[in-house]
Amino acid sequence: MAKVFVFDHPLIQHKLTYIRDKNTGTKEFRELVDEVATLMAFEITRDMSLEDIDIETPVCPAKSKVLSGKKIGIVPILRAGIGMVDGILKLIPAAKVGHIGLYRDPETLMPVEYYIKLPSDVEERDFIVVDPMLATGGSAIEAIRSLKKRGAKHIKFMCLIAAPEGVEAVKTAHPDVDIYIAALDEKLNDHGYIVPGLGDAGDRLFGTK
Ligand code: PRP
Ligand code: URA
Repeated sequence: MAKVFVFDHPLIQHKLTYIRDKNTGTKEFRELVDEVATLMAFEITRDMSLEDIDIETPVCPAKSKVLSGKKIGIVPILRAGIGMVDGILKLIPAAKVGHIGLYRDPETLMPVEYYIKLPSDVEERDFIVVDPMLATGGSAIEAIRSLKKRGAKHIKFMCLIAAPEGVEAVKTAHPDVDIYIAALDEKLNDHGYIVPGLGDAGDRLFGTK
């Protein structure tokens, strides 16, 4: 069964408060999302495997640990997921980046896929699918399904804010995918927005609307 991790680190919670605040402007919103993505990437990579290599310190020969070369793929769900990519790349600069374009139909709230481009070696990579918001779960479920259909075997999902409804939906649809969340909010409102949430993540990141 999928594991759900909620990061309650004080720095993440502090920055999230200003991300949520409606008086935070686009520039600061973008910077804060980037910073939280970096902090989350630090936690999400905790289980990366290591191997010993031989080095020489100025004092003596030594064995020391390096990452064992597992290939990582980051897949933002367009648009808003883009805001988290650079923050993750600061810690995993060699990761490849795929893109999945989905939007929620405003009437049905169902995800509609309009774009996909992935690294060619999908089957060999560990993927982190990123999107600031997990609301009904429709977009995350569809993005993960799309990745699996193309051969991805190891997938994690990472978001800033989730609604309990979305978490349950993703767990049910993809019990093999662990979910990493900065904050688990109260509920969804009648328009499928997370309460209290942060509003429309894409619009706030890109200054649209
Ligand atoms: C937002 C958000 C997620 C989706 C979450 O994207 O970035 O992708 O909604 O909602 P769900 O869990 O109910 O599917 P939106 O469809 O607004 O597109 P955008 O990123 O292009 O603004
Ligand atoms: N998408 C958003 O951008 N915000 C929400 O609260 C829900 C879906």
